[in-house]
Amino acid sequence: MNAPRIDVLLQSNWAAAGLVEDVRRGLGSQPRTLPPKWLYDDAGSRLFDEITRLPEYYPTECERTILREAAGDIAATSRATTVVELGSGTSDKTRLLLDAFADAGRLDRFVPVDVSEETLREAADMLAARYPATSVEAVVGDFTLHLGHLARYSPKLVAFLGGTIGNLYVEERGAFLGALADSMEAGDELLLGTDLVKDADRLITAYDDPGGVTEAFVKNSLHVLNRELDADFDVDAFSYVPFWDRRMQRMDLRLRAEMPQHVTIPGADLDLDLFSGEEIRVEISTKFTEERLREELEAVGLEIQRIWTDPTASFAVTLARRT
Ligand code: SAH
Ligand code: AVI
Repeated sequence: MNAPRIDVLLQSNWAAAGLVEDVRRGLGSQPRTLPPKWLYDDAGSRLFDEITRLPEYYPTECERTILREAAGDIAATSRATTVVELGSGTSDKTRLLLDAFADAGRLDRFVPVDVSEETLREAADMLAARYPATSVEAVVGDFTLHLGHLARYSPKLVAFLGGTIGNLYVEERGAFLGALADSMEAGDELLLGTDLVKDADRLITAYDDPGGVTEAFVKNSLHVLNRELDADFDVDAFSYVPFWDRRMQRMDLRLRAEMPQHVTIPGADLDLDLFSGEEIRVEISTKFTEERLREELEAVGLEIQRIWTDPTASFAVTLARRT
């Protein structure tokens, strides 16, 4: 059997893995925020998977349409023999790309990287069985901290799909792209999925489905804090507030306390007094224009080779090469 290798770069105890610092920094100051990477425990990963199958959540199907059309061309022109995937989750759509590389006889190695250990292990087992001639070397790691680990692989193509780059704040995104470029050799490639700026109504519908799956996903952040840090958030006393921030060109996903709340978070040695109406920002989801993409990639030495969009021009997949 072609068993996958799993490198664990993150502590399995989330409190030790940085959750405590993030909670102190994010919830202990104004405006109150939480970094979205803590949304993806087992329950959160399952809820995200459910989101990808909602009719309102267009990004997944738009990106799949693009990959179906572009994967063959990408594999035919790439010189990569290692495919890395950041924030890989189930690697579901990625199989279109991996199939194309495998068909071209050039998929020596696949390196999926994700913070969500259970999801990653399941995906790695499935992929090792599907690609018996490929070495699957999964990394339980944080793509904002552990990109140095990738420098050993070249020639490589780094796939960062789903629009997950949009979940980083603008300054985090600049640092991330710089570190990513530093981990690449000249000629290595980035395949980047980004959601595009569009009509506010369509965006809000995509992040506020009537069945409440997205609300449950965002509220899962509080369940994580209750479990991991022994906090006592009354999750039902929060309402979900998604809105489009036109100036920042991003969806802003918040939880609003519907009554005053005293919350204790013993694991972070923190007490919060939330007033009625006070909000916690749990996630942003930035939307891009071609101009912004070009500017940010070229600033770190990533030269755009091609941009594909789906027929509704909702989502883009960009291939860029390290100069
Ligand atoms: N790429 C998949 C999944 C997107 S969901 C798709 O396109 O559908 C975002 C994924 O990124 C989740 O699997 C989550 O666990 C992972 N993730 C979020 N923040 C991360 C971080 N800082 N480092 C590594 N993985 C992260
Ligand atoms: C993973 N990421 C790209 C999703 C997004 O659209 O920003 C996460 C998500 N949050 C709510 N719905 C989906």
